[in-house]
Amino acid sequence: MYYPDELVEEVRSRSDIVDVIGSYVKLQKKGSTYFGLCPFHNEKTPSFSVTPAKQMYYCFGCGAGGNVITFLMEYENYTFREALETLAERAGVELPKGEENAEARRQADLRARILEVNREAGRYFYYQLKGPGGKRAFEYLAGRGLSEETIKRFGLGYSNMYSDDLYRYLKKKGYPDELLKESGLVKIEERGAHDRFWNRVMFPIMDVNGKIIGFGGRVMGEGEPKYLNSPETRVFDKSRNLYGLNYARTARKPYLLLCEGYMDVISMHQAGFTNAVASLGTAFTPGHGNLLHRYTEQVVLTYDSDNAGVKAALRAIPILKEAGISAKVLSLKPYKDPDEFIKALGAEAFEERIRGAKNSFLFETDVLYSQYDMNDPEQKTGFHNALANRLLQFTERLERENYMEAAARQYQIDYDSLKSLVNAMGGRAGTLRPPVKERRSLEEKKGKPDGVKQSQRLLLTWLIEDERVYQTVKEILSPEDFTEELYRRTAKMVYEGLETGNLSPAGILNHFINDEDEYKEVAALFNTSLSELTKEEREKAFSETVKRVKRHSLEEKLRNVTDISLLQKLMKEQRALNELHISLN
Ligand code: GTP
Ligand code: MN
Repeated sequence: MYYPDELVEEVRSRSDIVDVIGSYVKLQKKGSTYFGLCPFHNEKTPSFSVTPAKQMYYCFGCGAGGNVITFLMEYENYTFREALETLAERAGVELPKGEENAEARRQADLRARILEVNREAGRYFYYQLKGPGGKRAFEYLAGRGLSEETIKRFGLGYSNMYSDDLYRYLKKKGYPDELLKESGLVKIEERGAHDRFWNRVMFPIMDVNGKIIGFGGRVMGEGEPKYLNSPETRVFDKSRNLYGLNYARTARKPYLLLCEGYMDVISMHQAGFTNAVASLGTAFTPGHGNLLHRYTEQVVLTYDSDNAGVKAALRAIPILKEAGISAKVLSLKPYKDPDEFIKALGAEAFEERIRGAKNSFLFETDVLYSQYDMNDPEQKTGFHNALANRLLQFTERLERENYMEAAARQYQIDYDSLKSLVNAMGGRAGTLRPPVKERRSLEEKKGKPDGVKQSQRLLLTWLIEDERVYQTVKEILSPEDFTEELYRRTAKMVYEGLETGNLSPAGILNHFINDEDEYKEVAALFNTSLSELTKEEREKAFSETVKRVKRHSLEEKLRNVTDISLLQKLMKEQRALNELHISLN
């Protein structure tokens, strides 16, 4: 079912952004804008703004921005549809119930029902643990050092010795077999129904919003499998959820701790490291990387210190990098995992290890180092070559030099020798670019837009901020003159809004909602302030900006023109532009 634009716009315009965001984030009014702590990154002082006049939010710290719909998409991890439906219900807007829509609703219903079953089961396991039958399980958890408060916070439980006790309990509550099967909690065969979990301590697995999406169950003591997990279901996607993230995301630390096990997460939280998360008994995936990137740009890996843990870290590092997260690796030696480390040495020692965590590149090269025998000249050379080869991944000169320096120090290699080895290798492989180009690429990486793009951007912001300039601008520039595709589309809508006298930034944003990068960029456009400029600066900047945009547009046209009369016309326009006096008033 496709919702028409008008309907989307109606839902949006009837959902007050301050109201909606205010129910998630504590907002304080300052002038015409509201401010609060950004829910999309960790910060101590508010840089997250909500502007009622524009019906938009924008974070000056991390650049998150958008309208009421994108807020729910980002915050609740909703799809566009889910966000729209939630808002429609809230605002009392009736959405059409088409055929396809009925199917979508049925799916959403089913998901909600599975979550409900999971919640019931979680409650049931919890009471089993607290009851007389759960004594041994409770002692097991207490024996592992967990306090009652921790057990409660993580909702730990116990699945008892009977093989269909949960099944019968849920049946009595009225849930049909079909649904129970879908939840993955029971298996229904010809011989009868069986609980998936029995005689295990239970770890409910929650999504970022604290809803139980599945369970892990551990045998008490020895036994195979040590942990049994729920199968993937309609609500349980192991590669897109992380254990502990529902708490960790509000920990307000600049980094998150990533570990392997449920018990590790719980131990760390109990010791005060409430920013710890773990993948769900599976490898770390790009889905996890993207999920983490919503909350942090820095991860400290606290994987097990055994070989398997090192391997897992080596696999996770590039995935984190790809997701835009920088990683460090913490050493737990001589202990096996964070749980054991904390139990043995305590929170302060752990904190110390976090401070000493190793840069991920140096961690990788350490592993490499351990594979060579440094007493053998041939192997030693082999290591140097392998190291130099890895250093080539840093294409920016300064960064590469910093790493060369660190590596030279770490492995006691003469810096200049290492440098010439790297340069020789780079030259051969053609990976090193000439320095001039490199500087440019550094700027690009910092996201510094080129001049014309910046001018088009500034001008759009100007049109939105100060509606009076439109009369002047429209005489000289049409939306077609915005050569950046994204800005051209935006300009069309801004012009239309200004022409008809109902410019709606949040409404315009609806058109970009399918592409996160786009709506973020457009949101930024609508939230840049021009107020730092003095009056003279404004005057000059305005005139230059308009001219620059026009000049570029003409140049682009001239490049493609074949018709001679059009060529003459464009050149005339070019000359006229140089003479043109543009003023704000
Ligand atoms: P404890 O022994 O309780 O401290 O667990 P641990 O976290 O130290 O165990 P381990 O390092 O062996 O496992 C880490 C994570 O891998 C666990 O939290 C589980 O998610 C998962 N895992 C461990 N054993 C199994 C298993 O037998 N089957 C499955 N599916 N997952 C497992
Ligand atoms: Mn352990």
